[in-house]
Amino acid sequence: MLVTSVGKMRLEKPGMVASGVMDETGPSMVRMLRSGAGAVVTKSIGSEPNPGHPNPVFTELKGGYINAMGLPNPGIELFGKEMEIAAKNGNIIGSIYGSSPEEFSALAVKMERYGAAAVELNLSCPNAAGYGMEIGTDPSVVGSIVSAVKSAVSIPVWTKLTPNTHMIKDLAMAVQDAGGDAVVAINTVKAMVISPMFGKPILSNKFGGLSGPAIRSIGVRAVFEIRTVVDIPIIGVGGISDWKDAAQYLMAGACAFQIGSAVGTKGIEVFDTINSELERFMKDYGYSSISKMVGVAHE
Ligand code: DHB
Repeated sequence: MLVTSVGKMRLEKPGMVASGVMDETGPSMVRMLRSGAGAVVTKSIGSEPNPGHPNPVFTELKGGYINAMGLPNPGIELFGKEMEIAAKNGNIIGSIYGSSPEEFSALAVKMERYGAAAVELNLSCPNAAGYGMEIGTDPSVVGSIVSAVKSAVSIPVWTKLTPNTHMIKDLAMAVQDAGGDAVVAINTVKAMVISPMFGKPILSNKFGGLSGPAIRSIGVRAVFEIRTVVDIPIIGVGGISDWKDAAQYLMAGACAFQIGSAVGTKGIEVFDTINSELERFMKDYGYSSISKMVGVAHE
């Protein structure tokens, strides 16, 4: 009943682990696949090892988390070992970040070689100069990156968009026009927290990305708007922590969803809980499949 598909990719369960959560090692990704997630998106991986920003990089607040890790990762060569452990066990989506079409393409080729079921282009990190949302808010740049990656690999190419723009529909259209296989919406919302006692920002990067329940209605709105302009699959993400949140994204037009912060607040059981409660809702309300729920809020 919970089977869904993102284009040609079939998922036994509609919820995936969002990038940045329990996805730095092969064994942690396997653990998530066994906890009711239909797929796991890896931590965003770049060309070279990157230590990320100095501490503090993370803080909790009412309604969510703010983080500015600075894209820490071991680099694509070392990450191959983790991919090879994880990809044998299920759908692993390789999240990658770069600063040019060439860099994204080279990373995608390696992810494909390591067994990734798809790549997710991080064009939306709010915390890194020259990367993520700095390049991901220009539709022509987004289009040129997607089309370069599409010509370099044969696995599906997903693009994760930022909500930090008034042009998310244009970005989604640029993805579709460039041949992109799916849009992932949304990444974190650029935000900040100041400590009154210290009289300065808490994060070393000053700004960070807000995630969790506080951003859910922004994400649902973004997915709804994107659905009005593109036909390619949409994967909804942002503030999902229970079946009602997931149902909102599906009804706005997403065919699958991702969960990040709620793995922190609710534990890895969040996937099993949402799966069984969503199934209960579908039975009670006469939805015989996930696809029957997708986009119903537009009708
Ligand atoms: C970071 C990356 C992201 O894509 C995001 O949404 C938040 C933080 C980071 O590594 O800083």
